[in-house]
Amino acid sequence: MKTFFTNKPVLKFAAAALLVMPYGAMAQQPAADAKMNTFVSTLMKKMTIDEKIGQLNLVTGGMAITGSVTNSGIDNGITKGSIGGIFGLYGTDNVRKAQDAAVKGTRLHIPLIFGLDVIHGHRTIFPIPLGMSATWDLGLIENAAHIAAKEATAEGLNWVFSPMVDIARDARWGRISEGSGEDPWLGGKIAGAMVRGYQGTNMKNADAVMACVKHFALYGGAEAGREYNTVDMSRLRMYQDYMPPYKAAVDAGAGSFMSSFNVVDGVPATGNRWLLTDLLRNQWGFKGFVVSDYTAVNEMTNHGMGDLQQVSALALKAGLDMDMVGEGFLTTLKKSLNEKKISLADIDLACRRVLEAKYKLGLFDNPYKSINPAKEKSDVFNDENRKAARITAEHSFVLLKNNNQILPLKKSGGSIAVIGPLGDNKRDMLGTWVIAGEWEKSVSVLEGIKHIVGDNVKLNYAKGSNITDDAEFMKRLNFGPDMVSLDKKSPDEMIEDAVKAAKKSDIVLAVVGESQSMSGESSSRSDINIPESQRKLLKALYLTGKPVVIVLFNGRPLTLTTENENAAAILDVWAPGTEAGNAIAEVLFGNYNPAGRLTATFPRSVGQIPVYYNHLNTGRPYTDGPTKFKSNYLDIANDPLFPFGYGLSYTKFTYSDIKLSKTNLKGNDAVTATVTVTNAGPYAGEEVVQLYISDPVASVSRAVKELKGFRKVMLQVGEAKEVSFTITPAQLKFYNSQLKYDWEPGEFGIQIGTNSADVKTAKVQWTK
Ligand code: BGC
Repeated sequence: MKTFFTNKPVLKFAAAALLVMPYGAMAQQPAADAKMNTFVSTLMKKMTIDEKIGQLNLVTGGMAITGSVTNSGIDNGITKGSIGGIFGLYGTDNVRKAQDAAVKGTRLHIPLIFGLDVIHGHRTIFPIPLGMSATWDLGLIENAAHIAAKEATAEGLNWVFSPMVDIARDARWGRISEGSGEDPWLGGKIAGAMVRGYQGTNMKNADAVMACVKHFALYGGAEAGREYNTVDMSRLRMYQDYMPPYKAAVDAGAGSFMSSFNVVDGVPATGNRWLLTDLLRNQWGFKGFVVSDYTAVNEMTNHGMGDLQQVSALALKAGLDMDMVGEGFLTTLKKSLNEKKISLADIDLACRRVLEAKYKLGLFDNPYKSINPAKEKSDVFNDENRKAARITAEHSFVLLKNNNQILPLKKSGGSIAVIGPLGDNKRDMLGTWVIAGEWEKSVSVLEGIKHIVGDNVKLNYAKGSNITDDAEFMKRLNFGPDMVSLDKKSPDEMIEDAVKAAKKSDIVLAVVGESQSMSGESSSRSDINIPESQRKLLKALYLTGKPVVIVLFNGRPLTLTTENENAAAILDVWAPGTEAGNAIAEVLFGNYNPAGRLTATFPRSVGQIPVYYNHLNTGRPYTDGPTKFKSNYLDIANDPLFPFGYGLSYTKFTYSDIKLSKTNLKGNDAVTATVTVTNAGPYAGEEVVQLYISDPVASVSRAVKELKGFRKVMLQVGEAKEVSFTITPAQLKFYNSQLKYDWEPGEFGIQIGTNSADVKTAKVQWTK
């Protein structure tokens, strides 16, 4: 039973307390390391085996659960020293009680670590991560993570299960909403920004939390986009396309990692020594600790890895340090030790890593460091945080279509019909994973529009349809109370009302798409259209002949072929968070000119999936449209509806050809590629200038192009700016078949443009 949407802390156990899991400063200096080692070694000498195993046990109090199991007896567990951390509990009172129980009630006074799924904001909700990535603005993203950390610490937390950096090329997978899309390079940049935003310069700071990078690894590669499904890919693809964001998070100093549910090379990630030790620690140099995903240790039994004792031993030996919820470590490790299936050194290593995390977070200095009731009032859901959420949301919107410059709308005169099940709706503004977010406090689209136009524009509202009329689908969406419901009016009556409202208005705003529970965990869809009830509504609206502007809510790329044919404009707003309505209205009425760009390809049809821009060439490439015996479909084009990097503006940008500082290069030379971008339209606006590189001849088949840089530039009307990229051999490197990361000499294509499918091109020759 999932309770993602509970917004009141539930302390299931008695008066005593929980506490947090601290983590350390980003890169500890050798002297600091030595001090930490001495501290942890001294402490560990005093610990019994049971106490050590207790540190490896992460429990949940029952607030935010994603599996069928929860823990009981937590109060007793804390004082017995059999709990290392708690997640799903927040609020300074609750956290203080739990921490008191650990610090005052246990023999060795070891503090707890307190975690939570703070995914896109804590109380002030920012756009869903896929939306946030569409800002292409690392500063905004880092700031959003920092604000989330401030709010989370103000409520006693010190560990967040974020960033989610899984690359996803399959829009059927509901968790594509939680990541940064399909590109490994951009995904890595965003991973780094988020880790920095959460952890700050030192995790000991009162407003810093430890990041937990998830889900390691390859979770987004689930076959058929079906949740928790098998992943199978070549090492080359792993290294080239899926691993870079995890690695970037390590490089940014992430304090912890979460193992994923899926298998990697046939072995569940949670018990995969190659993954958790050889790659993560030995090759990448990760120094933090690894926690399992929710009951992932136990689930290895279903994967065919043995009974609970066997899988727990396997996970520990693989390099897993903390067991989330399933209590396999707690209940079996001692037995395995006695039977010599694991060694004391295995337990010590994991225990040391957990204690080091607490040390790095400063919890041994002050277990209550972020428990400050005054901050709980001042730092949470304040005007400043809400403003940041609004600005981030505005920057995340992607204008997919805008015929005849119908947008922006005029702020006075005329009439607008606001229609759709998401038009006067607060709950679905927040998107997936908003454990502490209070949807009642979010701003609906209708409210946001009223804030901007007041009485100057006549607004005619009609709900028009249910999110869905499909009873079975509704049951699946309602995993929390009343998430989706049926209106008292029949679908026909609702459409009738909507058509009436449309007919008496100049323009129709159709606010439609996916509701909160249609994306996120365990929300795979085989059909990624707008639900049928809403498509019927749209059809009726098109038939009125009024221009229809779609304001689209979605946690994933959707198939929008019909909408693209019939709507006058489409503004993709994802799930914008607390300030949804205000941000949407600012953009619709032109106070902010949209500059978001897609980070995941939008297919024409679900049958094209997986479809992504950085694919390899085939031996029979598709060139000038469908031809027999080429790599294509009989019934559909190969190209997507909207490519990676795509997004329009209210203004128009033109690009000059590329100027290169040189065309023949050697060794560590660098080349500067410059374009002049001109704002040739009627509004000031931002353009995201994108750099792609191609490597047409190499020892392994290479992607047709790969993103290697971007700049977001602001241009006034008529203004032209030179935008330059410096390219060095570092950007030419790739993994060869020996998995060696290097570059090979030859010709390289340099492409600069407004999206992955619309670029200027130039070539250089590079010798070693
Ligand atoms: C999810 C994780 C999440 C964890 C704890 C799991 O089901 O896969 O992303 O952090 O639950 O809530």
